[in-house]
Amino acid sequence: MTNQIVLSLLSEAGGVGKTTLAVNLAYEWVCRGHSAVIIDLDSNHSLEDFVGLPTNPHLDRTIVQVFNADFDGQWALQTPFEEEKLQVCQGHTAMLEVAEKMMTRKRREYILAKILKQYSLPHNLAILDCRAGMDLVSLNVLTASTHILIPLDMGVKVKTAARLVQGLSIACEELELNPRPEILGLVPNRYNKGAVVHEEFLSELPAIAKGLNTKLYSPIRTWQPLNNSAVLASPLKKLRPGDPICQVFSEIVDDLEKIFVNK
Ligand SMILES: Nc1ncnc2c1ncn2[C@@H]1O[C@H](COP(=O)(O)OP(=O)(O)OP(=O)(O)O)[C@@H](O)[C@H]1O
Ligand SMILES: [Mg+2]
Repeated sequence: MTNQIVLSLLSEAGGVGKTTLAVNLAYEWVCRGHSAVIIDLDSNHSLEDFVGLPTNPHLDRTIVQVFNADFDGQWALQTPFEEEKLQVCQGHTAMLEVAEKMMTRKRREYILAKILKQYSLPHNLAILDCRAGMDLVSLNVLTASTHILIPLDMGVKVKTAARLVQGLSIACEELELNPRPEILGLVPNRYNKGAVVHEEFLSELPAIAKGLNTKLYSPIRTWQPLNNSAVLASPLKKLRPGDPICQVFSEIVDDLEKIFVNK
């Protein structure tokens, strides 16, 4: 699909809320009448817990088959939440071996980008959820992306945001990406209002975002209902439509919609 937004969730550290954002943004997007696919490239295959799918299905039913040299374009997609417009491509622990095998392939950083072009998915938003850090799978995610969102855990030093963005910039240059994926913004997560460290962290973030020439979204508070919704394998909005945290997801999806109409 030519005007598809391919949004990757990238972070330096694990557990910062990538999968939480993937599920809740995709759900908000389809609630607005669009279609979305979440592609799980993480070897921890945690997405399936978030959406209530069986763990470690047959490799042919996961993202692993997409990286096979003989992939024929038959994406294995599941439809959780009884929302036909929201589909997922499941991850698998075998992604670790896939990454190793990819090392011997030519143009190995561009495999996913090529597949998404050659065997395009019909959804107008594809969300790529991958492991923290800059391994070969993350580089594949980078080359396939049109946009990047960076969740930040408030417990992590602020410098990691800058370091990640600088790392991304260097990678884009080395990979000769033209155009480069646009960094949509930083999403502070697990914010505890009133906690001194978090308030300090939050006060430093506007300058950091400005320095990085990107947007700073409203912080997502440490919010038990959000964690509960993941345990119950549901997007937050489906369980608690009026929950205030859904506003942050809306704020981000507003921007995605603006990008989509201008594409
Ligand atoms: N704002 C929040 N309030 C409460 N719990 C949260 C919040 N954000 C995320 N969590 C919980 O923290 C855990 C880690 O979040 P998540 O899995 O989304 O992070 P991740 O970046 O995808 O992690 P990984 O790198 O391991 O894939 C999950 O159990 C999730 O439900
Ligand atoms: Mg995750």
